[in-house]
Amino acid sequence: MGQISAAITAVGKYLPDYVLTNTELETMVDTTDEWILTRTGIKERRILKGKGRGSSYMAIRAAKDLLKKSNVDPKEIELVIVATATPDMQAASTAAYTATEIGATNAFTFDLISACSSFLYAMSTAAKYIESGRYKKVLLIGSDKNSSMIDYTDRATCIIFGDAAGAVLFEPNSEGFGLQDEVLQTDGAGRAFLQVPAGGSQLPPTMETVKKGQHFVYQDGRTVFKHAVSRMAEVTEKILERNNLSKEGINWLAAHQANKRIIVATGNRIGLKESQVMLNIEKYGNTTSATLPLLLNDYEKEIKKGDTIIFTAFGGGFSWGAIYLTWAYNTK
Ligand code: UT7
Repeated sequence: MGQISAAITAVGKYLPDYVLTNTELETMVDTTDEWILTRTGIKERRILKGKGRGSSYMAIRAAKDLLKKSNVDPKEIELVIVATATPDMQAASTAAYTATEIGATNAFTFDLISACSSFLYAMSTAAKYIESGRYKKVLLIGSDKNSSMIDYTDRATCIIFGDAAGAVLFEPNSEGFGLQDEVLQTDGAGRAFLQVPAGGSQLPPTMETVKKGQHFVYQDGRTVFKHAVSRMAEVTEKILERNNLSKEGINWLAAHQANKRIIVATGNRIGLKESQVMLNIEKYGNTTSATLPLLLNDYEKEIKKGDTIIFTAFGGGFSWGAIYLTWAYNTK
């Protein structure tokens, strides 16, 4: 028997109804539609409204969308991973609740948390379970309710983030399609530049931390930007080099949607045409763990069986990497 590769065989998504436009943001903070569009490429983002709704609310709906489209029986799923930077709560796994709600009652589950690289790292993890030969259906969902940790009086961060979820199913493939290679990296020195200072074990919540706004995202945008551009380009080039891939050999770049300028710079660095660079940041902003699966959902009809896709992401930690994957199906 040949080697088993881990292929993506279905996708699904969920987008909250509420659309927060740049025009509405102009009424909330000192900013302009033009500034946001030229500096980030974002026109609007979705916000999950409603009391008691966390990331699982969106994860469940993205998973159900995938199950409906693919006709997969949830009872056949053996593992559910929820990639997220905004779990429903501490201690109780978001993935456990999500799996039960979608009827994946035979699955074991866990959350994978690594800021904006959560989904990329989780792709690697999901693939390993399939490649081991022991698991046949691994459901990976990226879901983030970023609005739960954003200060909507801080123009440096509130214009960037949105809420959403996306899901992919990994299954064994005997034709060699699926995850081919990966370069995953981290650098803890980056934590000073992108963090939510309080609410974790280091600085638990107090009246003081709330008063100081330490439960909101803090980002030194300029520093993060510089690192994102150079690190994503480095790993992307590295993965091409060691797989002997020239720009002609790549069909798509699926980069974390944090800033259009970073995405375009990465595409240019490896010589791709604009049409090969997947882009949907204008509609959703930075949805953290949902950016990569949302791209696959939006481009699913255009991606053909055998197409090569380079995934790349960069985020808090710092954490970053690139994954080379070949697509396993044509959409009917
Ligand atoms: O997903 C995790 C990884 N995150 C990223 O990859 C994000 C990386 N960083 C970025 O995308 C960009 O740095 C930002 C979009 C966050 C900011 O864009 P920038 O071009 O780096 O702006 P800046 O922070 O250097 O600020 C330039 C100016 C400043 O004014 P002065 O000091 O030049 O007078 C800011 O105060 O723009 C000002 N500014 C704004 N003006 C209008 C900052 N935010 C805004 C705003 N509207 N929303």
